[in-house]
Amino acid sequence: MTKKKNPYLAHRYPTERAVPSTSTPNGAKTSSREPLFGFVPRAVSAYQVRSALKHDLNPFTKQPHTAQYKKILESRNKLPVFAQMTEFYKIFNKHQIIIVVGETGTGKTTQIPQFVAYSDLPHTKNKIVACTQTRRLTTTAVAQRVADEMDVQLGQQVGYSIRFEDMTEPGTTFLKYMTDGTLLREAMNDPDLTCYSTIILDEAHERTLATDILMGILKNLVRRRPDLKLIIMSATLDALKFQKYFAVSGTPAPLFKVPGRTHHVEVFYTQEPEPDYVEAAIRTVLMIHRAEDPGDILLFLTGEEEIEDACRRIRLEADDLFNSDPESVGPLACIPLYSSLPPQQQQRIFDPPPKGSSPDSPPGRKVVVSTNIAESSLTIDGIVYVVDPGFSEQRVYNPRIRMESLLVSPISKASAQQRAGRAGRTRPGKCFRLFTEKDFMSELEEQTHPEILRCNLANTVLTLVKAGIKDLIEFDYLDTPAPESLMRALELLNYLAALDDDGNLTALGSIMGEFPLDPQLSKLLIASPEFKCSNEILTITTMLSVPSVWLRPLNQQKEADATKALLTVPDGDHLTLLNVYNSYKENSHNKNWALNNYLSARVLTEADNVREQLKRTMERFEVELISVQDQKKLFLAIRQALCCGFFMQVAHKEGDKGNYMTIKDNQARYSLAVVALHPSCGLDTQPEWVIFNEFTLTTRPYIRTITDVRPDWLLECAPCYFDLNHWPDSETKRAMMRVMLKRGSMRFPIQAAGKKKRKTARA
Ligand code: CDP
Ligand code: MG
Repeated sequence: MTKKKNPYLAHRYPTERAVPSTSTPNGAKTSSREPLFGFVPRAVSAYQVRSALKHDLNPFTKQPHTAQYKKILESRNKLPVFAQMTEFYKIFNKHQIIIVVGETGTGKTTQIPQFVAYSDLPHTKNKIVACTQTRRLTTTAVAQRVADEMDVQLGQQVGYSIRFEDMTEPGTTFLKYMTDGTLLREAMNDPDLTCYSTIILDEAHERTLATDILMGILKNLVRRRPDLKLIIMSATLDALKFQKYFAVSGTPAPLFKVPGRTHHVEVFYTQEPEPDYVEAAIRTVLMIHRAEDPGDILLFLTGEEEIEDACRRIRLEADDLFNSDPESVGPLACIPLYSSLPPQQQQRIFDPPPKGSSPDSPPGRKVVVSTNIAESSLTIDGIVYVVDPGFSEQRVYNPRIRMESLLVSPISKASAQQRAGRAGRTRPGKCFRLFTEKDFMSELEEQTHPEILRCNLANTVLTLVKAGIKDLIEFDYLDTPAPESLMRALELLNYLAALDDDGNLTALGSIMGEFPLDPQLSKLLIASPEFKCSNEILTITTMLSVPSVWLRPLNQQKEADATKALLTVPDGDHLTLLNVYNSYKENSHNKNWALNNYLSARVLTEADNVREQLKRTMERFEVELISVQDQKKLFLAIRQALCCGFFMQVAHKEGDKGNYMTIKDNQARYSLAVVALHPSCGLDTQPEWVIFNEFTLTTRPYIRTITDVRPDWLLECAPCYFDLNHWPDSETKRAMMRVMLKRGSMRFPIQAAGKKKRKTARA
């Protein structure tokens, strides 16, 4: 009954007969058989695959292999994963779920999905092999690399799918790299994920929220779909947790371990804690450049601004060093790396280091200044020195005050070890930790906290409910989130009317789940036609979903600020964003116009694309696109509509010192609650009530992207949320109470026609 057990064995491939030997025009003989001749799906051997790889013909395009293919194949041959192909197939052929661990750079992400494709032969069954990544940047980069390795065009046999960008060809793409969030969204609409033959969850050690939830969903799904295989890949060696989680009747899931090949890395600590880690990092990089043997440097910093600033300072000092003494110091190329960097600039990290001024003088060196992205998901060859200040930007959610923010926080010991490992890929290296050994031992946590334990779960909960998972408390999590976080998420979705009081998905919630947006934003979009400004809310939502559009080059900050002032709408930053996009449109989407106004042309082009996609989803669900003609009325309507999505992100002015208090907090209990308007805010006054898009903690807590609103709009949007009985006593509470008393006789200005529909939208 083999057939029943392994449905794949039912189809042999290919059924046609061997093709006779032929000669190509240049006389080279091709093999007499098709490259995949004799392949039995899910029962292929490494020997067969190696022969197919060496074949003159590409099995998927039927074209002769290019010279580039052969060159890359040689380098693939040297990867540890490649050397382990036999062992891989032995385990993979036998089991439904396997765990793969191996150090960064051993070839997991690029090779394993290809091995799986040769085994599943998804192209013969209209199936797809999926491999998830935790970041957009690595998803697109690795898909491009694998398309090159397989000698196919990106977007054809090999493609990728990330939020707002699908680079696949239905019916042709059979190997798909995608972000974990994208796969999770797919699971919402097709809980059986029918189009996939094997799903590979990569970078599982990062424990992102989406990967964690996918593990739970897939653990369940493999029971329903015996033909679906699952691979969990991780760069850290503590695989036991995954093995146990995916145990089958008590037997831990099998482990495929790729032997590492890292060299020894010598670790140095500072004697005293460093008061300014950026300063210390720059000093260390220059010290290495002056005093150490050739080899590139990788410096870990936390975010775009910090990285650009450090790069500028390193360049200045390194240029000085080089110009004053080119005979004893080589040139230094300083390359930033963070996720919002445009693709061509990302590619620069792979450039070779600059050459020395003459054959006898010291060779050049490159320093890559990167966020966490270079910690495990992206390999840069040639790194010999790592500088690690010990911090990264992490998403932290405080369920009590319902606030999620990016905070610069100390990394874990596991992260520090990963970072150090980056120095030993090609030869022995050195890692300079900018903290003391004592702090390493006593202050750093062992592991980074999984995101599920520290994130806002609203989006995930909506996805799970939409995927038909009712009991969120009983769901089989790898690490169970705090019940309080789950409750807050359910509560938020209930306030947004996505879930009813019994936790069931409402019609509105179901449509909300179709938008690749946070629930607040999707709610805002769907409610906007009632305010007759859905065209504008669509634009604002778009602008909130792309990276920041403002450019502020270091030597032209004054000019940039002056131009920004001309585009600013004093009633609110959301209106400013609208104005920016509309002006760009009026100027025929012109790149030069954007640059002259210190706006990122790339981000604006991206906005065009995102807007178009959101618009299509709106049309699909018949969310009307309308605008009030009168500008004054329009701006008012927009500010009112914004309250529908952001009523939970409200701040109230306290006193005259520019302090704001976020709602439902009380200074005595939660210190995070007192905030200030961010300096980038374009309001010309300090209104009593504002809504905001984002909370950041830099030198002090700030709120960003702010719009002036009226309290009765808030009350109208979410009467249940503003239940003063549960508020702690505060000036904010008293202010809201006064509004409520006054409102006793006030009516919200709605036209009768919109009224009924609104009830359904807001429940
Ligand atoms: O996933 P893992 O860290 O084990 O390794 P990988 O991402 O599969 O990378 C294996 C090798 O492929 C790297 O060392 C690079 O030499 C090469 N690679 C590349 O050249 N360009 C990429 N975008 C990704 C990988
Ligand atoms: Mg990888």
